[in-house]
Amino acid sequence: MIDTVDPLAPPDDPLQLPFVAVPPERALDFDQVHRRHPALAEFRATLGGTTLREVPSVPGGARILAKCEWENPVGSIKDRTAYALVADALRAHGDRPPDELRLVAYSGGDLAAAMSLLVNRTGIVARFVLGSFSPRSLLDLLDARGCPVDLVPKEHGFLRTIRTAQRIAAAEPDWTLVFQHVNPVNVAMHEHTTGREILAALGDRRPDLWLASIGSGGTLIGVLRALRARFPDVEAVGVTPAESPYGNPGRPSGQQTYEGSGGHGYGIRQPFVKAYDQVISAQRQVGYPRAFQAMGEFFDRTGIRIGSSAAANWLVAKDYAARMSPGSLIVTVFPCTGSPEQWAELGR
Ligand SMILES: Cc1ncc(COP(=O)(O)O)c(C=O)c1O
Repeated sequence: MIDTVDPLAPPDDPLQLPFVAVPPERALDFDQVHRRHPALAEFRATLGGTTLREVPSVPGGARILAKCEWENPVGSIKDRTAYALVADALRAHGDRPPDELRLVAYSGGDLAAAMSLLVNRTGIVARFVLGSFSPRSLLDLLDARGCPVDLVPKEHGFLRTIRTAQRIAAAEPDWTLVFQHVNPVNVAMHEHTTGREILAALGDRRPDLWLASIGSGGTLIGVLRALRARFPDVEAVGVTPAESPYGNPGRPSGQQTYEGSGGHGYGIRQPFVKAYDQVISAQRQVGYPRAFQAMGEFFDRTGIRIGSSAAANWLVAKDYAARMSPGSLIVTVFPCTGSPEQWAELGR
């Protein structure tokens, strides 16, 4: 029998409450925070502006453009999210000293890498909850930055990582939970920066399809909101690991997935994405072994290192490209470059 009730869900679980978007101008009004914490303003100035690059497609198919997010200062799309979440936490903290702010954040890896830099620069205290498959290079980085880590056994899936952070914040009121799957600044940041940058780079070209892998869904939905404001007909497709698809019923599989993404199990759907289920054309899946192999294929064709979630997006983009006319345009995102451990395993 499929176990469809999450035994660790707290009452009124925020992860399962409806999401309502907040206009970016309001959600991201961080002027005061920037004045109090110039290091945050400096980081903001280095964020984004990443290249929207044409990448290999299939012969005779649609063209594919990918937003190259490793160009962000710490090296992934999560630099944007980390900035917005930290700024939001500092705004709520007001004019109290930053070292009195204690943040607990769960992460698939990249958010922790970016946040650890930001908390060091602003004087906040932070700890992280990560899955036990996190690469050694990330754990060493967090250690060097003085951020304690709780590792959650991978067999329980990413949902257990989220639940652990929720439990820490509930049991220890000194710690404030950074809830990337729920906080509207996540979507607003992608709408205001990632999405509007894509629009600017497109100029008068019309995108037919936007596709992105789903972690919290902040990227998929934030960019979709920006694109739809100008191109109401643009289609959207979500991508999640075959080992843990979006909205998967039953217990999380705990299998290795391509990074940064995945369903939660027990039928729980990411609130940002769930709010847009009706306008998303399809949810597609890619298994980790195939995504991992495609990292190597992309590198061999272009000399560029992309991570496994980028590779998953590339595979799905090519699949759609094959069914679309050469004049059509697909836009996707390449969140990061992958870990040194993955490249060592690929032998490249
Ligand atoms: C490495 C990595 N970080 C972040 C994301 C996007 O996350 P979110 O949906 O939370 O915006 C992805 C999604 O593909 C990812 O692969």
